[in-house]
Amino acid sequence: MGADTADDAGVFRLSDDLALIQTVDFFTPIVNDPYLFGQIAAANALSDVWAMGGRPITALNICCFPVKEMDTGVFKQILAGGMDKVHEAGCALAGGHSVEDPELKYGLSVTGVVHPEKLVTNAGLKPGQVLVLTKPLGTGVIATALKAGLASPGALGASIEVMTALNAPAGEAMAACGVSGATDITGFGLLGHALEMATASGVGLEIQAPAVPILAEARDMAAMGLVPVGSHANLEHCSDRISVQGEADPILLDLLADAQTSGGMLMGIDQSRMPSAVEMLEERGVIAAVIGRARAENPGRLTVRF
Ligand code: CO
Ligand code: CO
Repeated sequence: MGADTADDAGVFRLSDDLALIQTVDFFTPIVNDPYLFGQIAAANALSDVWAMGGRPITALNICCFPVKEMDTGVFKQILAGGMDKVHEAGCALAGGHSVEDPELKYGLSVTGVVHPEKLVTNAGLKPGQVLVLTKPLGTGVIATALKAGLASPGALGASIEVMTALNAPAGEAMAACGVSGATDITGFGLLGHALEMATASGVGLEIQAPAVPILAEARDMAAMGLVPVGSHANLEHCSDRISVQGEADPILLDLLADAQTSGGMLMGIDQSRMPSAVEMLEERGVIAAVIGRARAENPGRLTVRF
């Protein structure tokens, strides 16, 4: 499986009962604390393996460090944060590579495994399935507020908690419920990633905007215009494939398109399996927000209801 359906990772079948999942993600710091940045980068990189229905087995560090200008303690803390999350995931850190770079960047290449028949993809949504989201949105807006010096400690703390949380419990629950269509919400925002799934699965997705969980204070910050450039670009890119019903709330629409880091899982669950799936997610400490539904009508399009 390659890049044609915009899936979260590449998948290579090794045998009838084993496929390899490979993914890589790295970026510049979005928080000031190096240990937390390491944790966020690792949680984000590992996530794509769970999004494909697999489990991570090994990871490699990718580091671009301004070695001449920065204290080496910073790098050590970033790597410690990354390693702690890799180990929390039950995954082995197998090494890595670092280069000198004027702009600090960190991330990981992660390898996972999955049974080929249990692969979860963007193309696996079916009409009638309920859409469940497992983390609130707004981390992009809060990161922008932080850069502007306008993020409150409370908002920042809540955002960091969301971004450092592994998607492992959501991935385990997905596997246990036989989910076939899912993705994690990252740079393209909920709307962008939902559209990728709608296109790949040949279904129309209906999203109930007021049901989408949003981080506290993110709304106020978005109302102040603290929306990342990428989030506006997301909305613009999607707008011709989105029908809005009811009176659109432009601030909420910005948040639905907000570029996320280490965001939650968006999955399609059969109506009959909903009670057990919600229970499974909640007993693992994961929110299970019901935000919409997949339909046969309007394939490749989103309907956002206000
Ligand atoms: Co992804
Ligand atoms: Co990715």
